[in-house]
Amino acid sequence: MSDESRPPAAGARSEAPVAAVIPAAGRGVRLGPGAPKALRTLGGTPMLIHAVRALAASRAVRLVVVVAPPEGTAEVKSLLDAHALPERTDVLVVPGGSSRQESVRLGLDALPPGHDIVLVHDAARPLVPVDTVDAVIEAVRAGAPAVVPALPLADTVKQVEPAAAPGAPEPVVATPDRSLLRAVQTPQGFDRATLVRAHETVTTDVTDDASMVEQLGERVVTVPGHEEAFKVTRPLDLVLAEAVLARRRLTDGF
Ligand code: CTP
Ligand code: MG
Repeated sequence: MSDESRPPAAGARSEAPVAAVIPAAGRGVRLGPGAPKALRTLGGTPMLIHAVRALAASRAVRLVVVVAPPEGTAEVKSLLDAHALPERTDVLVVPGGSSRQESVRLGLDALPPGHDIVLVHDAARPLVPVDTVDAVIEAVRAGAPAVVPALPLADTVKQVEPAAAPGAPEPVVATPDRSLLRAVQTPQGFDRATLVRAHETVTTDVTDDASMVEQLGERVVTVPGHEEAFKVTRPLDLVLAEAVLARRRLTDGF
């Protein structure tokens, strides 16, 4: 396509560099005792390094801000020094906070000017394919202020009331229509100003960034997620992650 015939629609944004914030400051309580989750290894490489590489694999991503466990910042810096990234990718490391939300905000605070699109990606999703990252970026470039990768649910979901006592049966109060529900993943992509405003405005506890943008009344849309973008949360997820890595090694010599 010649320059004249290229649509101006996405304008400057179509080339704008993208920054990624990677919250990695959690302990990983549900994974059981051990090192902070992001520093545990998969196929011999720390989960965080897999996650950083997965985002840096997108040509649009020029800066990655890693939000490290506060007591592990030096260790994270030396890990990043020891694992090569593409020439085009800069990396910053900042200490995290006591909640994911606070950690993301600390990462946003560290962003230099010049990146109008920001991705937020869990270190605990080390195996997200680059096509998913690029699909999120494309949807933000096309004008959506907030984009989440999403998958249909396999399980039926029940809404319950709290049990009378821990471990007691919980009364079921509703069964939402599964066809209208989605499980959402990361990276979630944002117009930077919108995400910053969300983090300045919303004070309720949330488990993802898009829900803060929803609370502002801004439009949030989905793109197709990927089953390999699952979150390593419980011990069985480590088994699955190792299996995915082993399959990749077989199929593309990864
Ligand atoms: N996270 C963070 N800062 C926190 C808590 C979580 O940066 N204070 C990050 C985690 O490192 C992870 C992502 O947010 O990459 C998603 O959180 P989750 O999967 O819940 O990880 P953890 O909080 O570490 O795990 P758990 O809830 O089992 O303790
Ligand atoms: Mg957590």
